[in-house]
Amino acid sequence: MSQVTISPIRAHHIKSFRDTLDAVAREKKYLAFVEAPPLEAVRQFVLDNLRRDISQFVAMDGKRVAGWCDILWPELPGFTHCGRLGMGLLPAWRGQGIGRRLAQTCLADAWHKGLTRVELDVYASNLPAIRLYETLGFRLEGRKVNARFLDGVYDDILFMALVKPDKI
Ligand SMILES: CC(C)(COP(=O)(O)OP(=O)(O)OC[C@H]1O[C@@H](n2cnc3c(N)ncnc32)[C@H](O)[C@@H]1OP(=O)(O)O)[C@@H](O)C(=O)NCCC(=O)NCCS
Repeated sequence: MSQVTISPIRAHHIKSFRDTLDAVAREKKYLAFVEAPPLEAVRQFVLDNLRRDISQFVAMDGKRVAGWCDILWPELPGFTHCGRLGMGLLPAWRGQGIGRRLAQTCLADAWHKGLTRVELDVYASNLPAIRLYETLGFRLEGRKVNARFLDGVYDDILFMALVKPDKI
């Protein structure tokens, strides 16, 4: 069993969170961006999420952020029930059940805070992530063909969503 613990993000996690976000982004396979925003921008993002009580969790290995999961929702009237999930883990921590724990914790928190729908984008090439989302109950709602063209390779973007189960 992994020693990694899942906890709500706090201000003192921001630097390590940004390092992890940057490392996963620089793999250029999984996220919508290829490097993390500057530290100050990430700090403002996290502090704003904390102020809004957004669902944002980190997987901690000691003092290091090994991964994250967040479900962000807008303040726009008519859309506050619907969050957008993003997540990632550093390579060494993948395939050990940590992503599932992170996502389940974050989803439970989002349901508790009143969300009733969570959606996400995932590259069609990202089979582990798609499998995880399917087993969590996410359904495919759409596909954007050739939506990304990076380093000479096209990828589709799948649009998936999970509507809150009746009983959680
Ligand atoms: C996608 C990701 C978050 C999953 O987290 P993880 O900790 O590696 O996944 P888990 O070990 O919790 O596995 C959960 C499920 O994912 C699927 N899965 C995980 N690794 C897999 C692999 N290599 N191949 C196929 N399915 C896989 C399985 O369904 C697995 O469930 P099971 O163990 O009951 O079969 C993680 O691999 C990751 O960070 N990848 C890079 C960043 C990324 O893709 N972020 C998401 C962008 S949309």
